[in-house]
Amino acid sequence: MNKIFVSLLLALGICGTAQAADTVVGDAAAGQTKTAVCSACHGPDGNSLVPNFPKLAGQGQRYTLKQLHEIRDGKRVVLEMTGLLTSLNEQDLNDIAAFYASQKGSVGAADEKLVARGEALFRGGKLSEGMPACTGCHSPNGVGNAPAGFPHLGGQHADYIKKQLVAFREGERTNDGDTMVMRAIAAKLSNKDIEALSQYIQGLH
Ligand code: HEC
Ligand code: HEC
Repeated sequence: MNKIFVSLLLALGICGTAQAADTVVGDAAAGQTKTAVCSACHGPDGNSLVPNFPKLAGQGQRYTLKQLHEIRDGKRVVLEMTGLLTSLNEQDLNDIAAFYASQKGSVGAADEKLVARGEALFRGGKLSEGMPACTGCHSPNGVGNAPAGFPHLGGQHADYIKKQLVAFREGERTNDGDTMVMRAIAAKLSNKDIEALSQYIQGLH
């Protein structure tokens, strides 16, 4: 296995155990009643129909909770959500994350012309450039690793995936921690790579 990959996994694993001591437990049923305002963009069950609004259904609780904290605190800028999280307490955020985790994520269709290139990158990485495969953290079928906080990607809108990969590469999204794991990976991706990966992920399940 690739050295960078192993050290990234170790680094992420270590911060993982430190953060796991979360005492608030989310209640999915209570969470559903708190997502009325969210459903306009993300869909009532978290399967958004608009390609630049991410699907939240089936996303791991820990990852969603982390994003909610960081969007609220401005560590990740989402202008569309300005002010929407400020009146929610810790219990509310946990409930909302639990609700989306309990829903089933839908899967889209991939552009057949781009799938082979996307699959090769997703499963094989670019070893010559030291870029690990995506599967190591996001799993071969794209479900991610919920306890570790590695997000579920499979079925996500290609437009949204593309925007995130470009944002990581350009340093516009910086909430991937001190290991800068996604910024380091996206730095190795060309626009064509990103296009192919986004299409492959949209159809992945
Ligand atoms: C006006 C539309 C809109 C509303 C309303 C909205 N969001 Fe969002 N949300 C977005 C957009 C757009 C993004 C992605 C921004 C980007 O491209 O980085 C996003 C991103 C997110 C993410 C990160 C997803 C990921 O995969 O990283 C979470 C979690 C989230 N929203 C939860 C919520 C919750 C909970 C509510 C209700 C309290 C809500 N949103 C309301 C538009 C909206
Ligand atoms: C060593 C582990 C690791 C590897 C390998 C990895 N990722 Fe990630 N990825 C992460 C982590 C951790 C996050 C969440 C960062 C955060 O907390 O905001 C993430 C986030 C993402 C996101 C944002 C998801 C969202 O909902 O906003 C995308 C897209 C993504 N990764 C795609 C990829 C692709 C494509 C590859 C392969 C080219 C890849 N990742 C390889 C760990 C990894």
